Amino acid sequence: MMGIGKLGLGFCILATITLQCVCGSFTPADNYLIDCGSSNSTTIDNRTFVADASASSTLTAPNSILASTSSSSVSALYRTARIFTQPSSYSFSIQKHGWHFIRLHFFPFVYKSYNLVTSKFTVSTQDVVLLQNFQPQGNSSPELKEYLVNMNEDTLYLSFIPVGNLSFAFINAIEVVSAPADLLNGSASTINPSGEYQGLLGQALETVYRINMGGPRVTPDGDTLWRTWVNDSSFIVNKSVAESVSFSGSLNYQPGLATQETAPNIVYSTATRLVASNTSTALVNVTWQFNVDADSSYFIRLHFCDIVSKALVDLYFNVYIGNWLVLGNFDLTSKTTSLAAPYYVDFVLAASDASSKLHVSIGPSTLSDAVADGILNGLEIMKMRNSNGSAIVVAPPGSKKNFGVILGSVVGAIAVVIVACVFFMVCRRRKIARKHHSKTWMPFSVNGLTSQSTGSRTSNGTAATSGQNVSLGYRFSFIVLQEATNNFDENWVIGVGGFGKVYKGVLKDETKVAVKRGNPKSQQGLNEFRTEIELLSRLRHRHLVSLIGYCDERNEMILVYEYMEKGTLKSHLYGSDLPSLSWKQRLEICIGSARGLHYLHTAFAKAIIHRDVKSANILLDENLMAKVADFGLSKTGPDLDQTHVSTAVKGSFGYLDPEYFRRQQLTEKSDVYSFGVVLLEVLCARPVIDPTLPREMVNLAEWAMKWQMGGELEQIVDPRIAATIRPDSLRKFGETVEKCLADYGVERPTMGDVLWNLEYVLQLQEAESGTSEVNSINRIAGLSSQVQNIRNLESATVGGVGTSSSNDLSEVSGSKVFSQLIHAEGR
Ligand SMILES: *[C@@H]1O[C@H](CO)[C@@H](O)[C@H](O)[C@H]1NC(C)=O
Ligand SMILES: *[C@@H]1O[C@H](CO)[C@@H](O)[C@H](O)[C@H]1NC(C)=O
Ligand SMILES: *[C@@H]1O[C@H](CO)[C@@H](O)[C@H](O)[C@H]1NC(C)=O
Ligand SMILES: *[C@@H]1O[C@H](CO)[C@@H](O)[C@H](O)[C@H]1NC(C)=O
Ligand SMILES: *[C@@H]1O[C@H](CO)[C@@H](O)[C@H](O)[C@H]1NC(C)=O
Ligand SMILES: *[C@@H]1O[C@H](CO)[C@@H](O)[C@H](O)[C@H]1NC(C)=O
Ligand SMILES: *[C@@H]1O[C@H](CO)[C@@H](O)[C@H](O)[C@H]1NC(C)=O
Ligand SMILES: *[C@@H]1O[C@H](CO)[C@@H](O)[C@H](O)[C@H]1NC(C)=O
Ligand SMILES: *[C@@H]1O[C@H](CO)[C@@H](O)[C@H](O)[C@H]1NC(C)=O
Repeated sequence: MMGIGKLGLGFCILATITLQCVCGSFTPADNYLIDCGSSNSTTIDNRTFVADASASSTLTAPNSILASTSSSSVSALYRTARIFTQPSSYSFSIQKHGWHFIRLHFFPFVYKSYNLVTSKFTVSTQDVVLLQNFQPQGNSSPELKEYLVNMNEDTLYLSFIPVGNLSFAFINAIEVVSAPADLLNGSASTINPSGEYQGLLGQALETVYRINMGGPRVTPDGDTLWRTWVNDSSFIVNKSVAESVSFSGSLNYQPGLATQETAPNIVYSTATRLVASNTSTALVNVTWQFNVDADSSYFIRLHFCDIVSKALVDLYFNVYIGNWLVLGNFDLTSKTTSLAAPYYVDFVLAASDASSKLHVSIGPSTLSDAVADGILNGLEIMKMRNSNGSAIVVAPPGSKKNFGVILGSVVGAIAVVIVACVFFMVCRRRKIARKHHSKTWMPFSVNGLTSQSTGSRTSNGTAATSGQNVSLGYRFSFIVLQEATNNFDENWVIGVGGFGKVYKGVLKDETKVAVKRGNPKSQQGLNEFRTEIELLSRLRHRHLVSLIGYCDERNEMILVYEYMEKGTLKSHLYGSDLPSLSWKQRLEICIGSARGLHYLHTAFAKAIIHRDVKSANILLDENLMAKVADFGLSKTGPDLDQTHVSTAVKGSFGYLDPEYFRRQQLTEKSDVYSFGVVLLEVLCARPVIDPTLPREMVNLAEWAMKWQMGGELEQIVDPRIAATIRPDSLRKFGETVEKCLADYGVERPTMGDVLWNLEYVLQLQEAESGTSEVNSINRIAGLSSQVQNIRNLESATVGGVGTSSSNDLSEVSGSKVFSQLIHAEGR
């Protein structure tokens, strides 16, 4: 009964793995290996990852960005990434239906102003959401997500959808590889109550743990299916009762049982064994503990191979999953009729039975004649992700043949369309699988408005790259917006501007939006309105409130924006009981808004002047990230509040460039002036004009500049934060404000310089005490190159690199933007 391998104790395990022949008996029908964001292919372990620009998959990624890092600590595969600022997709033509591995490789790095670790996004196939609101761990090693999906369609769409906040997604590499048909045959045993589960083929399985018990880590090149198996030692709860065993003979694969592809030989040739046979306290379990998500169901595969017995029917033991006995008095050889024969058993643990810790145990048999013993060779735990209708499709243009009619709503908002969609599909494409019906279709065509027949056909809200085919934002029907805003309920008004009222709106799928309804009395004509939407939908920046769509039905002029959870910057500074913001938070908000304004000023050949920069036009999202709102609309001048015409000072006047009175003209430098006033508001937390105060204090800019000139700005700092501001930081901040408020535009800095200065203010605030002058200088030097990077980046993102079908680099290689990126990458 003493095992052969028990003596070997895994000495030669490392040697064994290198000897394992990867015989490659399985050749995948589909084998897409993509090196994203790269212009060159990368070969790793004899597998060539093709640059996504030249791969045979189709990339639909408006405004995607090719990012790279010079870090040499990681494989070349991870040194490039593609960043998506908008919903984007790869589509793969599937040669052979059935199980496919999808592997997503993430290695976040910092590229220009994109710190990939701050990304947040959803990844979805057309059937199932693979990653919901994913945020990379960024623990300096690549993160791999693996899924097993059963493809019954001819095309796999893999969509990347940025979520909220920083709003971008990224990917370093993708694998879409066929798996052997018999890897999973569609059935497994249920655990509680025990029975048969037949629905596996309709599930996507996400690999959570794949473990080689008692053996070494197996890297993809040691597995015919390129899987990774990790060592179990860190999962064993009570190590004192477990030991590693290994076997150097050859395995006896039995027909109908596990195959060479089920798991590599090294998995079956090593095991963790219960050491109960030689203890007085014989009745113990070896238990492995895993962190799982209690709300999900799991597919669990146990791998066994009796490499310890000397004779058949020697080994009996119990196997538990959770507290359930799943294999009682389990005699391996009764299943395999041979020693050293690989065998596996599949289970499904229902969500209702899962807890956040999953235990798998082997323990001694309770049969009286049995010797206390037990082994486990391998374990796979996969989370079941069913297609529950929340999948998102970003389908490339021209993919209609696969999907009938691509209809849509922004996020499933338009019930009419969904009905029409279902109707269409039922009528026209009876063959399409039932699960498509409940999907939220996210249309993604850069060909503009193509299918007028549905009346509410929407198109994407992408920044167009050329003037030719400028696509507008999503076109909402009036009814939808009426419903979303409770028929433009006055109680739902969240703001009033020159253009009209702003209502809070809730779309059918509960997405919150801000709906800005043009005042019918506004001087603006419908044509002008359309021109402006065109402009607005080309303005895309993290620090600008995004336009989601518009409505021009019934002569209405309505703009639909993303909803900003935390409201205006102003409301966080004074006049409300919101908690006070720290100096650092305030600076970050200023930096964010400066970025947004800088983008407006520099993104296009002709600068876009905001004309109404004020703290009420700086909005904050749920994470207090600043976004500039209300840009691009009022062409005629600042949004002067006409309702309180009493004195010479009112409304936005407190922000108004004094040059405006002389020249009756606003420039970028007018925005800089107004921004300077916002900076003071942030510092002092008081209104820019407060008629209730003594005369010399009424106008914030005038009053504060007196203190600044006297070198005593600290006297008027918001008392809630005064004690926390470092003097250096305040001094630099004061100087910056002073420059912004210069009387003449030419004397004021550009928004880029302001941004630069504010970054420095933040650095000074965060600096270690006792920072030497040299350090500060270095920091400045570093900053200035950062600012330069930001400039490059921002000018680059405007034009957008990819157009819908730019899966071919040659299409864009001539573009200025692209050469700029290549140039930047080369550094
Ligand atoms: C791609 O390959 C070309 C030629 O081999 C080389 O000059 C270039 O530097 C490579 N680019 C990258 C990003 O590795
Ligand atoms: C790559 O393939 C070559 C030839 O087929 C082989 O000699 C080599 O060992 C392989 N390398 C790896 C890492 O698999
Ligand atoms: C699937 O495989 C298991 C284990 O090999 C087997 O018991 C079961 O009968 C198979 N089911 C089908 C439908 O082939
Ligand atoms: C498993 O990993 C642990 C720690 O990383 C190591 O000590 C042990 O030797 C490994 N076991 C085998 C069989 O490789
Ligand atoms: C581990 O097993 C040993 C031997 O059976 C026992 O004495 C000890 O209490 C166990 N420890 C834990 C944490 O279960
Ligand atoms: C039990 O282990 C001890 C050492 O820990 C050893 O001396 C003894 O021979 C073992 N007994 C059996 C039955 O294997
Ligand atoms: C082993 O674990 C199972 C499940 O947790 C438990 O029911 C059983 O009593 C344990 N056996 C021993 C000997 O600890
Ligand atoms: C659908 O599944 C995803 C992931 O499995 C989950 O996050 C989401 O809440 C589910 N949606 C519904 C409507 O059940
Ligand atoms: C949002 O952005 C802020 C800073 O801009 C960051 O601290 C925070 O972690 C982000 N949150 C998410 C969910 O990405």
